[in-house]
This record gives sequence, C-alpha cells and structure tokens, in this order.
Amino acid sequence: MAEQNNSSWPKWLPIRSELADLKPYGAPQISGVRALNTNENPYELPAQVVTQMLEALPKVLANLNRYPDRDAVALREELVKYINRSSNLAFKVQNIWAANGSNEILQTLMLACGGRGALGFLPSYSVHPLIAKATGTTWISGQREASFNLDIKKAINKISENKPGITFVTTPNNPTGTATPYAALEELAIACSEVEGLLIVDEAYAEFSKEKSAVNLIAKYPNVVVVRTMSKAFAFAGARVGYAICNDAIVDAMLVTRLPYHLSSTTQALALVALDNSKALLAEVDALVAERDRVATELEKLGFEVVPSSANFLLFRGFNADSKTAWESLVAAGILVRDVGLDGYLRVTIGLPSENAEFLTAIAALRS
Ligand SMILES: Cc1ncc(COP(=O)(O)O)c(C=O)c1O
Repeated sequence: MAEQNNSSWPKWLPIRSELADLKPYGAPQISGVRALNTNENPYELPAQVVTQMLEALPKVLANLNRYPDRDAVALREELVKYINRSSNLAFKVQNIWAANGSNEILQTLMLACGGRGALGFLPSYSVHPLIAKATGTTWISGQREASFNLDIKKAINKISENKPGITFVTTPNNPTGTATPYAALEELAIACSEVEGLLIVDEAYAEFSKEKSAVNLIAKYPNVVVVRTMSKAFAFAGARVGYAICNDAIVDAMLVTRLPYHLSSTTQALALVALDNSKALLAEVDALVAERDRVATELEKLGFEVVPSSANFLLFRGFNADSKTAWESLVAAGILVRDVGLDGYLRVTIGLPSENAEFLTAIAALRS
C-alpha cells in the first residue's frame, strides 16, 4: 500500500512518512562573513603539511582506477597509535573504525545497533536525533538540567525505564560546551550494560577538554563506544575523517552496515599524512583553549552570561533581543554565529584572535 504523504513534498514522491516532516541539517554557509558557527578550527594547515599531502597524491591519483582499501587498515593503525599515545592504553586496529566524519560513524552505529531505540539528553548535538530518524531508530529524548549538566540519577532512571539499544552522551556537549565527569560516564556505562545497551560517548571536542576520556572505560565496559573526529582539533574538517574506538565485536557489527569502499583512497592518503603530522596539526589547541577562556572573560565583563565550556565554542546569553534578531544583527556586522534553537542564547565558535576581537566588538553593541 502506498504510504500517506500529507506534507509539502510533491504527492508523487514516495518519501517515507516518518521522514516527511524532517528538515535537512543546515547550518547556514554564507560567504564574506567571519564563520564562527560550525566549531571548525580557524587555523589553516601548515605549509609543510600541505606539501607532504601534495607529494602523497600522484601515487593515489594514478590508482584511482582501483577501489580503496575497504577496511582502511593503514589509517586505522595510525589512529590507534594516536589514541594509544594520548591515553596510554593499548588498543589494537580491531578496536577502531574510521569513516567520512563522525556523522557517518554515528549512522553506521545506529544502523547496526539502533533496533531498540536511541536515547539522548537535550540540548545536545542535533544530528543524533536526525540520524536516528533517518535510520528508522526510535528517538527517546531525555533532558539536561538548567545548568546544561546531566543529573546522573535521572539519566540512569531514563535508561532503566526505556532500555534503549543506544544511549548518547556528548562530552564536551555541543551546543553547551559542558563536560560530563569521567565518574559519571562510568555510572552511565554500568546503567547501559544492565539493559544490554551501548553507551556512545561523542567526544568530538575531547582534545579541548581536561576531563579524562571515556576510552579508559572500554576495557572494563565492552558496551562503551567513543566517537571522535579529525574535524575539530586536527583542523581537518574538509577531509571528513571520524572514527570510533570500541570493543572489536562492535567494529564487526559496524562492518555489516558500512557501505562498501566508503572511505576514498584520497581521504585515506591525506589522513595518513595528517596523522603523521599530528603534533603540527594539534599545535593550536592550547592557543584555542586560552582564547576561549579569554573570550568568555571578555563576554562576562560586557555583562553576558557564559556557560562554562570545555570545547572550542561558547554558549552565552544576555543580548538585548531574541536569538534570531541578535543573530541577524551579527550577520549584518559580518559575524556568523549559531542560533542553536535555545531561547535567548547564541553559540560562538572560537576563531582567530582578530575574528574574536571583531565578534566582541559586534556583540558589545547588542548588550541591553
Ligand atoms: C558533537 C558532535 N559530534 C559529531 C560531529 C560531526 O563531526 P564530523 O562529522 O565532522 O566528524 C560534530 C560536528 O559539529 C559534533 O559537534
């Protein structure tokens, strides 16, 4: 029987009824403004890294007649080394999966393990529920507190009540910047294991945070998956490389739902060069953290309220208009920030010091 389609889609289009009301992910991309809206790293790749990438390309390009390594083994070996170096652990290549950005990792995981639904605590990364709906995974909304932190007791109750196949925790959380302490993550890992569910810890911003990473839980709790990305701290968003660190059984499950040859030869080769230069690419992380703290202090001096952030962005409120109007005024002043749909708040990504100065000047004009 044809599915009912009552939305604004053309009548002849057999879009799945459960998707008919969804909007595509759409952070505005506007040219000619300071883009402080998608939590990118504002620093371009160092020239010597670009040179090495160019040197790696001819061999890759000549072999584009062949499919890439389907299992991206060389890349995963280097990602394992990076994670083991930064955590002092001993993961093996079987504990890592890599894909086109961590969004694809999330999709692969939901396709594999979303059968009993996915729970997340809002406000959080808006793509989690979007991918859930697109993959036919029932989405269950939990809530964060007014401080945007998690109440762990309430979170555990929500897990025991709903018994989801997947529970998401984003830490540091996007769009709030708040981090969940390691001890709390361990409690959540136990609660998820009691309902035979995965705890997916989305650590896209981990390198900007001082909290201990959830990768340290994996040996004891095989149901913990840590999702990371090279898009933020590594300044590699355009290349699209994300990865998951987890028990090898979860990687095996992801192999079933990944698309064959999903990660292009070019992406794999460029990411290998990037990982070989991880020190150079991560060099600006400390500067961005210092700049984040400086911008937060400046915003507070202007009278804004800033949510404590462990990431490379700040959520703040206290402007003299609603979020949409304030956002438009900033765009008119040449600054693109993010209206994340939280009443009275805007989110700004930490940019170059000169961009941050322009932002602070523009936002000062919006103080009530
Ligand atoms: C919490 C979180 N997870 C995942 C992603 C996706 O990153 P990517 O697909 O570039 O790896 C983002 C991007 O903003 C994010 O904020």
